[in-house]
Amino acid sequence: MIGIFDSGIGGLTVLRTLMEKLPGYNFIYFGDIARVPYGSKSHATIVQYTLQNVDFLIQKGAKMIVMACNTASSIATEDVVKRFDMPIFDVITPAVEQVIKMSKTFKIGVIGTRATVKSGIYERKIKELKPEANVYSVPCPLLVPLVEEGWLKKPETTMIIKKYLHPLKVRQIDTLILGCTHYPLLKKIIQKKIGKRVNLIDSSVTVAGKVKGFLEKHTDVDHLLTKNGMTRFFVSDVTPQYETTSNQILKRNVHFELVNI
Ligand code: DGL
Repeated sequence: MIGIFDSGIGGLTVLRTLMEKLPGYNFIYFGDIARVPYGSKSHATIVQYTLQNVDFLIQKGAKMIVMACNTASSIATEDVVKRFDMPIFDVITPAVEQVIKMSKTFKIGVIGTRATVKSGIYERKIKELKPEANVYSVPCPLLVPLVEEGWLKKPETTMIIKKYLHPLKVRQIDTLILGCTHYPLLKKIIQKKIGKRVNLIDSSVTVAGKVKGFLEKHTDVDHLLTKNGMTRFFVSDVTPQYETTSNQILKRNVHFELVNI
């Protein structure tokens, strides 16, 4: 099984893309709804939660891990890689590789949670590959609750996005990284507000491409993965609102199994 976790249900955007790219594979998803959001937690807490989540997925039979959460990927990837001996994918690296391929002016925008932006990870990794790049990062803390409320098309959401993107528009970026699980669900509004000439990088798409490429090359790992199209959804809490939003993201009825992690 491929194990995927997120601080909540936003990571279902990553699962959705993985299911499209790897049809028939078995997945196990964990959403840490009881402890969301991670984006406003401390470094130590994010590391602790992340290690617990990975441990849980491995206990349930995961043979490789996709850290769908940008915040966990930004803060805890090194700790996870050190602790667990199996293929681990974070969402930052594939997005950075893609931005390097796509950007022409190397004026790059990044939006994410406060913790992701504060970590400076995107800027660091982009500059390792392209030292002359200009990276402008903006935390967008209001977008996660808006998505979780299902306010995807409300004028208030559009207005807030416009305000958040203003400093990036002024810098005339040519590429924008959507550095949070929830932002792919706001892609259309973000594209409209940042302008159609700006390329959007959706980390759910880039990580899924990376996982697929890896499995094509590493058939030994691929053979360990069961493939009868089954997916299990574990969560640390559940409310009707989360169920509704999850069904909307995956466009099917999701059956959550509650766990105490
Ligand atoms: N999943 C988180 C991320 O991608 C967003 C929600 C949170 O703050 O936990 O950064």
